[in-house]
Amino acid sequence: MSDHTLIWHNGTLKPWHEATVHVSAHALHYGSSVFEGERVYATPDGPRFFRLEDHTRRLFFSARVYGIDIPYAAQQVNRACREVVRANDMTSAYVRPLVFRGAGGLGILPKENIVDTVILALPWGSYHGDAREQGADVCVSSWNRAAPNTFPSWAKAGGQYLNSQLIALEARRGGYAEGIALGHDGMLCEGAGENLFLVMDGVLVTPPTSSGVLVGITRDSVITLAKTLGMAFEERMLPREALYRAEEMFMCGTAAEITPIRSVDRVPVGDGTVGPVTRALQDAFFGLFDGRTEDRWGWLTGLDEGVSSDFDGDPKRPVSISAVVPDREDQEAAIHGRTARRARDSMEASS
Ligand SMILES: Cc1ncc(COP(=O)(O)O)c(C=O)c1O
Repeated sequence: MSDHTLIWHNGTLKPWHEATVHVSAHALHYGSSVFEGERVYATPDGPRFFRLEDHTRRLFFSARVYGIDIPYAAQQVNRACREVVRANDMTSAYVRPLVFRGAGGLGILPKENIVDTVILALPWGSYHGDAREQGADVCVSSWNRAAPNTFPSWAKAGGQYLNSQLIALEARRGGYAEGIALGHDGMLCEGAGENLFLVMDGVLVTPPTSSGVLVGITRDSVITLAKTLGMAFEERMLPREALYRAEEMFMCGTAAEITPIRSVDRVPVGDGTVGPVTRALQDAFFGLFDGRTEDRWGWLTGLDEGVSSDFDGDPKRPVSISAVVPDREDQEAAIHGRTARRARDSMEASS
């Protein structure tokens, strides 16, 4: 990256090479970070964030689970996400807010460790390349997802991605685009960085949120679009053999968007081509960004837009993730620490 790339670091925009941390950072030793992956799309109306507020809501939820006090209000994080895209003059981007326990001494139990907040915006095309059109060849991983009483799958935390790395690295070594993990109970779970959908007997199915998956925002968007399109849909536990019976299959996530799967363990999915349900959902999803699909849900927001008043969850919006997020009072309580106030004050003074 060039030094012209700006990174938002604790309230200030810095050149790429200046956004550094100390080697004693707690997150480096113990994985104590929470993060998001968000996309900005170049739409006919200009650059638009996709579900920014939902991502920020999940960021605060993840931080809450791990007891990390984010030193900013959610609205400030939203504003900063927009600011970093604008500052880098980008029309589309992958945006990565990251909050982590920083420097302040070693020891598993964080003591005086400061909490650092950074937001990066990078150009990022299709995560699985050509597979978006042709379908990806995936395998079932020998690594399982963590059992529910080990790591909280609803939280998106850095340390948890060691498991994802094992899954993805093993898949890559075997010549596959991605690995699909089973849960602790042997039932289907998700990809290293994606949720999983199957079409079985014409019904769109996905493992439930209690199966050890990250409650993906793209997953929720796919479910919403499928219902809007009148598709039959079910959340249910699925055994591994469903992978070899499904007519269609795809994985989805902010990075992967909607990527069809054409084979699992070298066994073709259906006839090995991308099926009609997957194509219809891809059309509806990507249509949001080129104007073919009306954004009835207020998912797209511009870079200059203020934060909408319904940040705490509008019951009109079918956002399943809202079931797991803290309300505003909890968020305020979570940011009342001394460091938090100092950071917030200095940011407000500079804005
Ligand atoms: C393990 C895992 N599951 C699912 C997803 C999809 O989540 P989202 O659609 O919110 O990006 C991701 C991507 O962040 C992920 O890392």
